[in-house]
Amino acid sequence: MTLLPNFAATAESIHELRNNANSLIETIKTTFNTGIERELRTFSSSEVAEFTGIPHPTIKKKSKDSATTGYPPGIVNPSNGYRQFSLDDIIQIVEIEGRLPKNGCFILTITNFKGGSAKSTVTIHCAQREALKGKRVLVVDLDPQGSLTSLFGYTPDTDISDAETARDWLSGTSDALPVKPTYWSNIDLIPSNLGLYAAEFALSNRVDDDEDYEFFEILELGLSELKDQYDVIIIDTPPALSYLTTNALYAADGVLVPLQAGMLDFSSVAQFLSLLASTAETFGEEQSWAMFRFVVTRFSGTDNEVLAGEWIHKMFGNRVLTNPFPETTAIRGASTELATLYEVDQRNPDKSRRLDPRTYKRARKGVDAVMAEISDSIEAAQAKRAKDTQALMVKRSESAAHV
Ligand SMILES: Nc1ncnc2c1ncn2[C@@H]1O[C@H](COP(=O)(O)OP(=O)(O)OP(=O)(O)O)[C@@H](O)[C@H]1O
Ligand SMILES: [Mg+2]
Repeated sequence: MTLLPNFAATAESIHELRNNANSLIETIKTTFNTGIERELRTFSSSEVAEFTGIPHPTIKKKSKDSATTGYPPGIVNPSNGYRQFSLDDIIQIVEIEGRLPKNGCFILTITNFKGGSAKSTVTIHCAQREALKGKRVLVVDLDPQGSLTSLFGYTPDTDISDAETARDWLSGTSDALPVKPTYWSNIDLIPSNLGLYAAEFALSNRVDDDEDYEFFEILELGLSELKDQYDVIIIDTPPALSYLTTNALYAADGVLVPLQAGMLDFSSVAQFLSLLASTAETFGEEQSWAMFRFVVTRFSGTDNEVLAGEWIHKMFGNRVLTNPFPETTAIRGASTELATLYEVDQRNPDKSRRLDPRTYKRARKGVDAVMAEISDSIEAAQAKRAKDTQALMVKRSESAAHV
């Protein structure tokens, strides 16, 4: 008689599996150099033009005349004269050109209670795209799964202590939200790990003790202390309308809902919206979002998806971004190395680390289009908010003058 394999498990064997998983993650990080010390690639002048909106010829000319223009010269490829720029070079160029709108910090929450709708993927590409525009970005990982934290090279389980997450601030036991730098010089991170779950319980206990306790205001209170230091704050949320997510929604100036074009996703979004509406009611009349939009994600263009996409557009109109986020092996390939499409180095001397050039190009085009739309939407909402605030101030001073 052949012996059946034994798949029984105890707490101890599960521990062992967890240790195996963590040591494999460390090996991958060492092999691909994707830990927190990884070096960010450089960017071509045409990429810089695309990210910043500065005309390509201007960038080429001014970097060539760096002595008189103050532009960084970049790194010149001697064989063709093309220049490559680091992220810090981009930040310097944007500063020289005075390109950044000064309309205050904008908090964008990316949320949907459907798991796997690409919340974290959209969050990180959006954060990096904003950073490549020269903005100062804070990313808040509010999901105890810590996917976003992993994408920044940290292993949530071993590199991040519970006190480095938002846990203590949300539980009322610390006096500030903890912020960590990342290998992107203009992106900071409030990381996450499983310990963040404790905040969920702490918030719920406070509500049990005092039903008037406004648990949803806590994150906003913490972020308001940090707002001066950033142009955008982007919050990734867990796949649940939890106490954590509710905090992220209350703190938000804008909400972006990633949504797959599938029947199940479509019916779940209706439930999500009804929960969201009742949550928003508890926030009080003063609360509103300057932007509330949907993005179709993981879109591979099958007939069914095209049809579902049409329904989504019909249902939510121009709140839905025009461009879907494409499903692509380039994202899967990049995320194997805990990287994004903006980080993959297609000039890597090790060709096995590059992605198929045509797939990469197509994926970048699709993702760039979505990210540009998100960025425009944020800036339009920021500009409108600034205008409304100014109009309100004028009105107030006029009525004060009448008294
Ligand atoms: N456009 C895409 N093309 C290919 N794979 C993708 C794409 N978007 C996301 N994925 C993959 O799908 C998986 C789920 O994506 P992601 O983690 O962004 O979803 P999520 O909504 O944050 O999930 P969760 O609800 O668990 O937080 C990941 O493995 C990610 O790499
Ligand atoms: Mg996620």
